[in-house]
Formats: sequence, structure tokens, C-alpha cells
Amino acid sequence: MRLLFASSEVFPLAKTGGLADVSASLPRALAALGHEVRIALPAYPAARAALVESRKLGPVPGLSGATLVGGRLPGTELPVVLVDAPALFERPGGPYGDASGRDWPDNARRFHGFARALCAIALDRAGLGWRPELVHCNDWQTGLVPALLSREAVRPATVFTIHNQAYQGLFDRAQFDALGLPDDWWAPDALEFYGGFSFLKAGLVFADQLTTVSPTYARQLLELEHGCRLDGLLRHRRADFSGILNGIDAEVWNPAADPHLASPYDRATVDAGKRANKAALQRELGLPEADKVPLLGLVGRLVEQKGIDLVVEVIEAWRDRPLQWVLLGGGEAAWERRLRALAAACPERVAVRIGYDEGLAHRIEAGADFFLMPSRFEPCGLNQMYSQRYGAIPVVHRTGGLADTVVDIFARPDPGSAATGLVFDEPTAVALAQALERGFSLYRNPAAWLALRRNAMAGDFSWRRSAEQYLGVYRRALAAGADPR
Ligand code: ADP
Ligand code: GLC
Repeated sequence: MRLLFASSEVFPLAKTGGLADVSASLPRALAALGHEVRIALPAYPAARAALVESRKLGPVPGLSGATLVGGRLPGTELPVVLVDAPALFERPGGPYGDASGRDWPDNARRFHGFARALCAIALDRAGLGWRPELVHCNDWQTGLVPALLSREAVRPATVFTIHNQAYQGLFDRAQFDALGLPDDWWAPDALEFYGGFSFLKAGLVFADQLTTVSPTYARQLLELEHGCRLDGLLRHRRADFSGILNGIDAEVWNPAADPHLASPYDRATVDAGKRANKAALQRELGLPEADKVPLLGLVGRLVEQKGIDLVVEVIEAWRDRPLQWVLLGGGEAAWERRLRALAAACPERVAVRIGYDEGLAHRIEAGADFFLMPSRFEPCGLNQMYSQRYGAIPVVHRTGGLADTVVDIFARPDPGSAATGLVFDEPTAVALAQALERGFSLYRNPAAWLALRRNAMAGDFSWRRSAEQYLGVYRRALAAGADPR
């Protein structure tokens, strides 16, 4: 199959979260299964700089000043196409906002431009001499692609994947008019959404097939409580909608060959390996080197979704207990301040790093005893899978992909069996604290703790199965297309 994989972030060219990891590792898995995949993303300055074998291609017809840049994804053979539209993407800051985290005011225009370029590629109108059979779109930034393609008599099939239903690409009528979108799209069965319009909804209405990133989140999205006001639409499209669990890149996240670690280790050497990495992490962050003190790690976007407030509540309640907390994240300024203050108040117990640091994220996985993910909702979540690979026991709220990837020690009382972590049912600080108490009692029993760690490390989160499930979805999308392609 010839596949165009469209995403607003792709590791290591541009990353704010798990979408970037998936946008690199899924195409790689599909290519390994023998398919022809090209990845397309905007030419943010950092992405341009990091692209391998970069070369200028032709202009994008109809998008003034825009050209395509070809190259390879670093560390792989995967072909990448960057949409180079300086007016839209050539600016400092992140993919979606400025350095202080404020969304760019012209995001509708930016990702409409990206979508138009993607359509030109998909229809082979941008001079690549290559015509994909299917375009796989991801999250709201690519939501207009299936809508725009639906107006073509001859077009590739389309699949749209929801990585997070909470980010909907919502804009107002003035922006709709400014983009010159077709009038008939301003309707409840098209893009119109509670008085504005939504890029995400465009993808959900017009793509041939829809997916999301775990079976449990797929079920949750059909419910009023989790559907973010799009549950009705998804129920209507239920026959075309499925949940496929994300995989992980087992090369990038491999404790036995991780260039970010001073002491690589595997399942057989986990005891000594984690001890060495824990000590190194404590030194790096200025915490007392204490082997017996449980070290709890967290890496993530500091937003309400991730349940950071629950973690702060527990840290504050347990100020006097011999525990070490290591938190790495960025996001809402109020949380960044709160965490910094916490670290300043308890320098012996709490280390906080604000910002994005890929290497430290790996070292936290390697050095932590427990890894915290008390997310209120979590479409899939990748860190709980990285943690298991690194023998850091995940402590998670039973929701979305967390429920699908972590087996609680009580579900399998014998830690020699299938247990891989601690799972709690309510997104509250009390429930998180209770789960941690259960974890600490195991931690104090070295044989049981080692067995749990080894079990967690034995899990298979590779892409192969999930990539095959995507191929099934692609085939359904191709079969559904009434148009000759
Ligand atoms: P989400 O996509 O909702 O942010 P995921 O768990 O799917 O959550 O993916 C998060 C990814 O981003 C992981 O690879 C994680 O290591 C990484 N990450 C998040 N915040 C940071 C940070 N501050 N520094 C380094 N990596 C981070
Ligand atoms: C989103 C979700 C996260 C998921 C990631 C990759 O950012 O919040 O749960 O793992 O996308 O699919």
C-alpha cells in the first residue's frame, strides 16, 4: 500500500507529546511490513534543521509562497515531506503556540494551509510523481484533509485517528469565512459545532474510517461523560470506528541500549542496573543518594488531564515521609510555579525540572522505582509502557489506555504472575495515596518487588500487532470508497 501519514508533530523533528512518538514509530512499523509510507509535517525551523538529506522540491499549487522539502527521518529510511510555508510555520516557539505557551492566533489559517498542501500531495498535484492510495490523518490539525478530499471526484481513501478528543480545533464564524470554506460546511452535520466550527469534527464527519488509540478510550468516547460533545457523532459512525492500542518504539526506549543512560541494563540485571541509575539520577538532580528511599517519577505535560493536582496533594500531605519525588514537565504556568515552590520548600525530597528534556525523561524512567500517571483521562499514554520496559512500576488511574496496558497487583495477587503495576479506580488524591501504600508494602519485600519489576519488563508493547490492525482499517477504508482511485 502507498500511504501518506499526516501529522503536526513527528519525533525527533517536532514533539510536544505522544503524537510525535506515534507519528514516527507507526509509519516505521508499517514500512517494516512492506508498505510504502511517506510522512508529512509542517517545516517548523527545528524540523527543517534536523531533517536528513534535505532537498528542495517543488511549489505547492494554490498556496502562495509554499514549497515542499524532501528528506529522511533521522535514524531511519523513512521518507519525509515538509510543508515549507514560511508565513505559517517559520517562527520561534512550539508547533501550536509561542514560547510562553499561548496558542498562535492564526492557527486556523496555519493548519488550513497545511491541509491544503497535504491534499495537493495526496492528489499528486505537487510534483512528487507519487500518488498515495490512502491518507492517514492525525488529530485536529489534519482534520480538514478528509473534508477537502471529499469534494474530489477521484481521491485517496482517508483514515482519521483521534489522539485526544479534548483538543478540537475550535474557531469562530469569522475564521470560517476568512478561510473561504464551502458554505454548506456551516451545518450541524458538517463542521459547525455549538456556534463555531471544529477541525476535529471535520475529520470525524468526512474520513472513511475513524480510529482512536486504545480500545477502552474508544468505548469511553461513545459515552456522554467522555465524548467531549462529539459522542453522538461517534455513535452515529460507530460501524467505522475502532480503538487500536499504540505501540512503542522498542529501539528508542530500550534500557539495554539507551544512549541517555550511564548504566544500561536489562531484565536479568535490573536490580543492579536500576540501583546505579537511581543513584545517578539523585546526583544529577541534587537529591540525597539514598538507595532504600522509594523514588517516584513523573514526566508529562502539566495540564489538568494528567492529574498533576493529585500528585501535588499527595506530596504535600506526605511532606515528612522518607520519599523522593522527581517531576519533569511543562505546560500551564500556574502548575510550573506551584511545582517550583514545592521543590524549593522540600529540596531533600522533591526535584522539579520545568521544560522539555528528552534525555532526562529516559533517565527518570531508568532511575525511578514508581512512575506516576494519575491522568483523569488518557487516550492511550506512552509513559506507562516506557516505564514497564524500564522496570519503573506504573501507578495509574483506570482509564483509557492506562486501563488497557497496566495489570494491577491485586488483579493478580501473585506478583510472579501477570501483574505489572498499580491501578486505582477514582481520580482522587486519596485513591492515588492508597495505591502507593500498596506499592510501598511490595517495595519492602525485595523478592516480590524484583518479580514485579521483571514481569513489567517482560511485556510486549511493540507495534507489530497494532500495525496489522491499522492495515485492516486501511483495507476497510479502501473498500468503502465508492470513488475510483
Ligand atoms: P501526551 O501525548 O498526552 O502528552 P503520552 O504519554 O502519550 O502523553 O506521551 C508523552 C510523551 O511526551 C512521552 O514520550 C514523554 O516522555 C514525553 N514528554 C512529555 N513531557 C516531557 C518533558 N517535559 N520532557 C521530555 N519528554 C516529555
Ligand atoms: C495524545 C494522548 C495520549 C496518547 C498520545 C499518542 O496526546 O493524550 O494519551 O498516548 O496522544 O496517541
